[in-house]
Amino acid sequence: MRFTVAIDGPAASGKGTIARALAARFGFAHLDTGLLYRAVAARGGDPVEAARSLTPADLERPGLRTLAAGQAASRVAAIPEVRAALVAFQRDFARREGGAVLDGRDIGTVICPEAEVKLFVTASPEMRAHRRWLELGGDEAEVLAQVRERDRRDAERAIAPLRPAPDAVILDTTLMSVEEAVAKAEAIVASRL
Ligand code: C5P
Repeated sequence: MRFTVAIDGPAASGKGTIARALAARFGFAHLDTGLLYRAVAARGGDPVEAARSLTPADLERPGLRTLAAGQAASRVAAIPEVRAALVAFQRDFARREGGAVLDGRDIGTVICPEAEVKLFVTASPEMRAHRRWLELGGDEAEVLAQVRERDRRDAERAIAPLRPAPDAVILDTTLMSVEEAVAKAEAIVASRL
């Protein structure tokens, strides 16, 4: 069976948690596509060359989850050749036998416009910054400033900007617990399987 769940949304919206929960519940493979861009930035040197020669070991590098790695990722993610080099891998993953969940910024719009389920997971910038701060610590006002900066860069870039696919289901998790958000997402997938 081939079945793709495309989950997009801004940083710390809860899309990664929802993606992991759906993968576990339905037995799908999961790809956190943000990790690809984080790994490209972390390699240093020419980002296009890094994207073309990315290996599974690059995704295991320590430090890929930090705020700084996220900022660096959003810079290399605006380079069209970097995005182009990562398309085939993501599409192959999406159509693998047994079902797949991919989360990112352009999964429903560019990578898998044919996905059986498209979710756009969002929350207010303040709530997303608060969640990131609980996870990583630091100064909450600074975390909020970084969240806003990354939102702007991701939404305003010329190529594959962050936006919901026209047929995506919007899930605003601002006032939802993790359990509620996961339950809603599970119900949507179950209804399409
Ligand atoms: O989701 P995550 O915070 O790990 O993503 C890091 C950065 O990678 C994002 O801010 C975005 O610029 C970029 N990204 C992207 N397209 C994706 C996934 C991530 O441009 N599909």
